[in-house]
Amino acid sequence: MNYIGSKHSLLPEIERVLDEHGVPRSGIALDLFAGTGAVGKLLKRRGHTVWANDWQRYAYVTNAALIEQNRLPEFPRLTLPTQQDVNRHPRCETVLAYLQTLPGRKGEFYEHYCEGGSAGRQYFSRENGLRLQQIRDTIELWRSIEQITESEYFWLVACVIESADRVANTASVYGAYLKHLKATAEKPLQLVALRPQESAVQGHRAFCQDSLALLREQPGPFTLIYIDPPYNARQYSANYHILETLARWDVEEFEPRGLTGLRPAESHRSAYSLASTAQKAFTALLSEARADYVLFSYNNEGLVPEATLLQLLGAVSDSAETVVSSKSRPGRDSVSVTRIPFKRFRADADHEKRTYSADATEELLILARLRSSSPLSSVATTQLSSQGEELSSAV
Ligand SMILES: C[S@@+](CC[C@H](N)C(=O)[O-])C[C@H]1O[C@@H](n2cnc3c(N)ncnc32)[C@H](O)[C@@H]1O
Repeated sequence: MNYIGSKHSLLPEIERVLDEHGVPRSGIALDLFAGTGAVGKLLKRRGHTVWANDWQRYAYVTNAALIEQNRLPEFPRLTLPTQQDVNRHPRCETVLAYLQTLPGRKGEFYEHYCEGGSAGRQYFSRENGLRLQQIRDTIELWRSIEQITESEYFWLVACVIESADRVANTASVYGAYLKHLKATAEKPLQLVALRPQESAVQGHRAFCQDSLALLREQPGPFTLIYIDPPYNARQYSANYHILETLARWDVEEFEPRGLTGLRPAESHRSAYSLASTAQKAFTALLSEARADYVLFSYNNEGLVPEATLLQLLGAVSDSAETVVSSKSRPGRDSVSVTRIPFKRFRADADHEKRTYSADATEELLILARLRSSSPLSSVATTQLSSQGEELSSAV
């Protein structure tokens, strides 16, 4: 999925930073803003028990399928009307193949969001919209009559989300749909089987909570906390509202708003995406971080300036005198920064109302060795919050 802020292309750099600084390949790694699960998969491969969190339901479902599970689901309780191919394919593929044969039908999702629906929006072609409606209705039915387990349910929904995204009639995100069907949106929906990341370790988990609330609830200690928050004002809840609705399948419970059919206004507005609250939110998050290491991903054009972030991380790092190095000096500094030139995320091309300033920005990977994996002393917490306040008045 072409997801805003996905770290898929940065995985080699992330792995290199962790290895060069000797971050152990064991213990629990908490991915607090997990998105597509790309980094969680890397951390599983690295040998960690991974806990992945994201408060968007589509991201949670994806992480429940790819991170929480170590292998493909088997569907032992499900009876399909057609049982052909049962010995020729893994059972999960037979289940997808069955869903793939459903002809489609009308329903609320189709009416609100698909070509030919009564609301006039066209995020999906008529044919794909009708089929998505019936496929999701069927998965919901199987769950309600307990023919599938919760993990089988999440895997199926994650496969539908990924497959639907490939035929969506948008420029990239769901802030708007295109007036005419683009070529990929005209292709028939093809259900893809997502592969959970294999791992010899048990105990992987997925959470769907506000990051700070989760940190307060789960005391750790963790080997590593990976923090990859939004860095600009784009709200994921608005940009991916269709995927959220496909994940929750709750369109009968709200009135889609405006031209684009957004979910209710109060849905998840992230404090990290508002200039007025982002720094306070980081301060609070770091004061709850109980881990050996924190790896922080951010962008040099982010809402919180790099210098501020480094000071916040310096306050929780394990050196009394914080040495902040912009060159990565493995094993020597308690806070180190790696800068990676990064192609800017573009939802669409330049046009008369918008010209992007530059194609490249810098992605920052800031690794901090923390003072202690036990809860921060009150001195450190006070230092952190007063630093946060000083900084916010200075910025
Ligand atoms: C930069 S993206 C993470 C990308 C991810 N690392 C990947 O590679 O796919 C930021 C994520 O933070 C999530 N998010 C924003 N605010 C949050 C909050 N308060 N609690 C939990 N998740 C949040 C968004 O839903 C989004 O998926």
